[in-house]
Amino acid sequence: SRWNVYVTNEIPKPALDMLEEFCDMEVNRTGKVLEKSVLLEKVKGRDAVLSLLTDPIDAEVMDAAKGAKIFANYAVGFNNIDIPAATERGIMVSNTPGVLTDTTAEMAWALLFSTARRVVESDKYSRMGKYEGWGPMLFLGQQVMNKTVGVIGAGRIGLSFAKRAKAFDMKVLYSDVAANPEFEKEADGQYVSLETLLQESDFVSVHTPLLPETHHLLGEREFKLMKNTAILINTSRGPVVNEAALVKALQTGEIWGAGLDVYEFEPEFAPGLLELDNAIVCPHIASATFETRTKMGIIAVTNILAAMRGELPPTCLNPEVFKKN
Ligand code: GLV
Ligand code: GLV
Repeated sequence: SRWNVYVTNEIPKPALDMLEEFCDMEVNRTGKVLEKSVLLEKVKGRDAVLSLLTDPIDAEVMDAAKGAKIFANYAVGFNNIDIPAATERGIMVSNTPGVLTDTTAEMAWALLFSTARRVVESDKYSRMGKYEGWGPMLFLGQQVMNKTVGVIGAGRIGLSFAKRAKAFDMKVLYSDVAANPEFEKEADGQYVSLETLLQESDFVSVHTPLLPETHHLLGEREFKLMKNTAILINTSRGPVVNEAALVKALQTGEIWGAGLDVYEFEPEFAPGLLELDNAIVCPHIASATFETRTKMGIIAVTNILAAMRGELPPTCLNPEVFKKN
């Protein structure tokens, strides 16, 4: 029979159309993230929930959604979902890996170039009517080509990012919990300690998932290790970086710049961050292309439909639940 599905925010139409063909669905069309109390009400009596990374899917929400078989997260990251709690309750959880790998990697490069070459800052200057002609000292930035780039986290996105460094004749260093032969082969990356990476890189790009072990991976001590000319890029998860410490490092010139897409307490920015000219502050848009956001929706819906048919959802994060049922 048709499932009853709740979708916590509007996603691209092709995905909603696909869901609607096979399921009864309700979509939050307010354009806003649901208050927890509303979320708790809305998930009641559903067979499946299509959730966003901004929805905290904890034990309380799962208990409110009693009877739900799957939470399909519209994101590759799933730190917003308590997976052990889901597994305990026999609820499956899925994410949307693969389709945002290159999209996120290209955003990291966009931020890297924009920060290094002061694209946003100088654009603002022009609009403010300050441009009075070419100047030999106007908006000097950091050369990108032939420099060293350090990649923290050698997963799918880190690899896609690193592969492009070759085109700019850059040296690639990477750190992770273990060496990754595929990364070394495809990106010509050299495995080093985090400390070495921070000391030797001109650009540091973060591509780790948020885990207890990666929370505040970069803080005051790490910024001190980095070059004063270095640029930090973060398109992963905000809490991997101690944002207050980052603001201080940018204010004092401990590092030269930062290109950010994610924040420790989204949608808040750390005090002082928005006043800094040497930081670019994008609103978590690394996967935001027409192509990718549609594909993410199709994957989330495909997971729900598979679960409905009694099949293993293709990108299930806790397949042991499926095997048990
Ligand atoms: C975006 O941040 C995602 O995890 O998909
Ligand atoms: C810059 O515009 C140059 O011609 O050097």
